[in-house]
Amino acid sequence: MQVGLVGWRGMVGSVLMQRMSAEKDFDEITPSFFSTSQAGQSAVPMGRAEVVLYDANNLNQLSEMDVIISCQGGDYTKRVHGPLRESGWSGYWIDAASTLRMTSDAVIILDPINGSDIDVALGSGKKDFIGGNCTTSLMMLAMHGLFQEGLIDWISTMTYQAASGAGAQNMRELIQQMGSIYDAAENELTLSSGQILNIDALVLDRMRAHDFPTEHFGAPLAGSLIPWIDSDMGNGQSKEEWKAQAETNKILRREENPIAIEGICVRVGAMRCHSQALTFKLSKSVSESEVENILNQANDWVSVVPNEKASTISMLSPTNVTRTLNVPIGRIRKLSLADNVYSAFTVGDQLLWGAAEPLRRMLRILIDREE
Ligand code: HSE
Repeated sequence: MQVGLVGWRGMVGSVLMQRMSAEKDFDEITPSFFSTSQAGQSAVPMGRAEVVLYDANNLNQLSEMDVIISCQGGDYTKRVHGPLRESGWSGYWIDAASTLRMTSDAVIILDPINGSDIDVALGSGKKDFIGGNCTTSLMMLAMHGLFQEGLIDWISTMTYQAASGAGAQNMRELIQQMGSIYDAAENELTLSSGQILNIDALVLDRMRAHDFPTEHFGAPLAGSLIPWIDSDMGNGQSKEEWKAQAETNKILRREENPIAIEGICVRVGAMRCHSQALTFKLSKSVSESEVENILNQANDWVSVVPNEKASTISMLSPTNVTRTLNVPIGRIRKLSLADNVYSAFTVGDQLLWGAAEPLRRMLRILIDREE
């Protein structure tokens, strides 16, 4: 199987390369490494032999691939996917970008949940398989059991999203902001007589200074937060907030009878784990322990964290979950707000299950079908 990789040196692409190497996916394929800017030059893709880079803008070179996996971003997909299809190419297009997600020809891939729909789509000749929004995919893996049992009436999702979701430059900027804040307060911090209100004032002055590094976020994130992610839909909702309901119901094939999913998406100073506080209503009364059982058994990655302080602090945090495929969910409690309304809190690495992992698993599905 000839597999073309585009955008493999970017952040999501690099995580994908790490995962493909770890799972020995390269043993099963003939990879070709594409570049939009360095075609013809040689490169050494992560622990592999030196290769000459193909041209990611050349439709003839792309057409030779059975499968193309793109982590190059939405602009590339917009520019290349249409012309490539119009040229007659009928290979599989696997993409991390959101561009094609909601098109009728595309399937959003999250195979622990919609693996059988992916098989049906392959059988019916579908060729475009697109990774879901990271927050949506992570929420669905955490809540898989309750979706499976058809128990969910609605969900409110309040997110705490990491810098990585905005891009590699944003991760760097978060650290620069942290360093800049520390530099401003360092003298007062290290004085034994240092006063906390002086420290606080120094920090605030630094965060409000014109030269505080905010080029990428447009506002301070370190020591603060940003309650808007992605573009403005014009109705008071951000695009990130819109995606949760739209994509979940597409994955569940419930567009005609959608589960309502609403909330506010917030950027916080975590590096690469998205967290979400969920409030959800079930269609009937289920005990907390039964909700935990249902969630715990749904797939290999979700795990329930007991709703008590010590376990929550040690297990349910970005620090604990980052660079793992685990999707813990905890803080499960029946709330006094209304009948059958519950809370939960979940954390997941947005570069793994939120981005790279569904793509490499889709490739595996194609490989397994060939055998
Ligand atoms: N849109 C997400 C975010 C990341 O900004 O965190 C990718 O789905």
